[in-house]
Parts: sequence; structure tokens; C-alpha cells
Amino acid sequence: MNACQNNQNSDAADNDADSVKTTTLVAYFSASEVRATERVAKNLAKATDADLFEIVPALAYTTEDLDWNDEQSRSTIEMKDSTARPEVISKVENMDQYDTIYVGFPIWWYTAPRIINTFLEQYDLTGKTIIPFATSGGSDIGKSGEDLKKASAPNANWILPGKVLNGNPPVDSLKVWVETLK
Ligand SMILES: Cc1cc2nc3c(=O)[nH]c(=O)nc-3n(C[C@H](O)[C@H](O)[C@H](O)COP(=O)(O)O)c2cc1C
Repeated sequence: MNACQNNQNSDAADNDADSVKTTTLVAYFSASEVRATERVAKNLAKATDADLFEIVPALAYTTEDLDWNDEQSRSTIEMKDSTARPEVISKVENMDQYDTIYVGFPIWWYTAPRIINTFLEQYDLTGKTIIPFATSGGSDIGKSGEDLKKASAPNANWILPGKVLNGNPPVDSLKVWVETLK
């Protein structure tokens, strides 16, 4: 890039910053103390020049809530009920500006936590491109994306199956994955 182009670009940014809008969003939910999904989401936002958004539950999940060995734990009860919709307190105010949304979550019982359904159902996602990603204890992403599409955003343009991104992959390797989606 020559100096002239540089000037033009910075002028455009200075004069009209509000109109230069990011069109990609990385929205994620992370529940455990490790915050594995959050780590990946942050790197993915860097890899895609995206805005980052946390899906925040109205009621935070405690360690007891996340005990999958306990049949009475909150997560077990929610995951046994496909209509459960845990309340979300964060909201994307400017969803209209995004055309591509990466949606990240920990795999719970081989699929997405119900709070991801709550998130998706808050918006009109018709025609938007949605790409699921996840972290897990070893499971693949399976039918998580298909489940979400069917239940909560059938009119979006899903790129499936998406991917489990374990091991905190660096930005460069996430860029390689993103390229494979095009
Ligand atoms: C309720 C619950 C159910 C889980 N079910 C699975 C599962 O079916 N397969 C799997 O590989 N990992 C499972 N995990 C492990 C999480 O997917 C994994 O620890 C994830 O990286 C946590 O992400 P986070 O730190 O962003 O919450 C489960 C964890 C919880 C709390």
C-alpha cells in the first residue's frame, strides 16, 4: 500500500468512524472456571476481525450446577428438557449490522447448552450466516448445530457441522479453519 492510500484510509476512518461497522460477530457462552470457550472465542474474534459478545446467564452456573454426575443438578435438568430456555441478561443491541455470527459454547451432553437456544431466539436471524464452534472434554460437535438450527434459527444460513476447537488453538490456526468455510 502506498502513502496516498494510507492517508485515504485513515481519513475515512477519522471522518466517519461510525459508518465503518464490523460485520462479523463472535458470540459465546462459557461456564466452567477454565473458561475454555471464552479463550477460543477471543482468539477467533482476532482471527476474523470480529466483535466479541458474551452470552451472560441471568443466573451464573455454579460448580454444583455443572455436575453432570448429579441427576438433580441444574445442567442435568436443563439438558433433559429440550424446551428449557435459561434466561440471558446480555443483548446484542445492533444485531442488524452483522451478517456472519460465530456461536461458541461448551458441549453439554453431546449438544449445545439450552442457553444457546435462548440467545438465538432473541433475534431475527433470517439470512444471516451462523457458524457453530465449541470446546469439549473430547466429544465432537456432532449434531449440535443441526439441533440449534431446527429448534431456534431455521431461517439462518448455517454452515454445518461447525467445529470443536479444543486445546486453545492460536489465531493463525483459527484463520486456516475460517478459510476452509469460504
Ligand atoms: C453439564 C456438562 C456436560 C458436559 N458434557 C460433555 C459431553 O457430552 N462431551 C464432552 O466431551 N464434554 C462434555 N462436557 C465438558 C465441557 O464440554 C468442556 O469442559 C468445555 O471445554 C467447557 O467449556 P467452558 O470452560 O467454556 O465452560 C460437559 C461439561 C458439563 C459442565
